[in-house]
Amino acid sequence: MDRSVRLIITLSSCLAIVLSNRYSKFLQTKVFKDCAGGGLLSEKIHVSLLGCNKLCSSTDDCRRILFDKETQLCSLYDRGENCLTDIDVNNKVCFRMLTVCDEVNCERCPIGYYGDTCQHVIEDCTDGARKSVVPMKTIASFIRPSNSLHVIEVLCDFYYGGYTFINIRSMRCPEINFNRTWSEYVRGFGYRGGNHWLGLENIHSILDNHPSFTLQLYLSYDNSASFALSYYRGFYVRDVTDNYKISIASFLDHPSVPTGDSLTNGSYSINGRPFSTYDRDYSNNNCPGRFGSGWWYLDDPVCSRGNLNGRTSGDNFESTWHWTENMGNRTDFSAIHMKLIRIG
Ligand SMILES: *[C@@H]1O[C@H](CO)[C@@H](O)[C@H](O)[C@H]1NC(C)=O
Ligand SMILES: *[C@@H]1O[C@H](CO)[C@@H](O)[C@H](O)[C@H]1NC(C)=O
Ligand SMILES: *[C@@H]1O[C@H](CO)[C@@H](O)[C@H](O)[C@H]1NC(C)=O
Repeated sequence: MDRSVRLIITLSSCLAIVLSNRYSKFLQTKVFKDCAGGGLLSEKIHVSLLGCNKLCSSTDDCRRILFDKETQLCSLYDRGENCLTDIDVNNKVCFRMLTVCDEVNCERCPIGYYGDTCQHVIEDCTDGARKSVVPMKTIASFIRPSNSLHVIEVLCDFYYGGYTFINIRSMRCPEINFNRTWSEYVRGFGYRGGNHWLGLENIHSILDNHPSFTLQLYLSYDNSASFALSYYRGFYVRDVTDNYKISIASFLDHPSVPTGDSLTNGSYSINGRPFSTYDRDYSNNNCPGRFGSGWWYLDDPVCSRGNLNGRTSGDNFESTWHWTENMGNRTDFSAIHMKLIRIG
């Protein structure tokens, strides 16, 4: 699709577009009060909204702005579709930079878009790191798996080959509810800068795009003083007609900071299990209700020996995020990451 066609679509589907100068375009998006996702580049007081857009256009890493209409405080950020802020959202407007282009070239695209006219989108975070068209940062990026019509926003870690996050839980951000319905787990919930679940449909479309992905787990504990890592190779999630069944080819533990295997060990393996939520439960043991989250539960009263979607705190082992193998039923995590890297 060429640039003029794309622009028309954008114009007809957006809330408001501001042209801050001849070359750059901004799209108004949402402001959420949540855990601020970081990425603040600079702030300047007593500027107009137009001045704020111009400031963003002339600042190399700027990708969106948060403008306070009352105080005229202009904040520039390097990431994200929407503005996340831990302050009151009244009187604030958020604009995402679409492009900084002249008639021939785009000097800056939204993160994840590339090409002279921002006409391409990376397929996943590994693709972005390999093509070197992204900043070397952990940052929210747009991706479009080649088998998908939709551009989605994900959190990428572009170091070490490029990881696509499918789940982040962090005690530094306000807890969000993970005891949700089937359709919420399918669509995804939370915000990319803070605690979130990417959504089964998005996860499936990323995995379906290339044959070989590894899921990396990062479990942090002792108030972030310690962490453990492991790798589930050949990780795949089927589509909705198969109820997003999980499959894992092999487990590889980290030699010096092992997690142990709570997902595919012997008779407690979740390999081949469908996803379950309290309103669509394939566990036959009310596991989603008891454990308070969606997950690939066993058809067994044990339900799960490693559930990373449970509540972040509570006395109850079942309904709290937990990991059994090698950790003696640990529930006191400070953060959990589930992220994908493409192999080959
Ligand atoms: C698998 O389970 C057995 C028995 O509970 C345990 O001894 C072993 O350490 C587990 N393996 C891994 C890799 O966690
Ligand atoms: C999760 O939500 C369902 C539906 O509201 C409820 O029945 C169940 O008790 C909840 N589970 C937990 C552990 O909070
Ligand atoms: C872990 O929890 C399970 C289920 O509550 C229990 O059967 C098991 O004994 C616990 N293991 C440890 C090491 O605490």
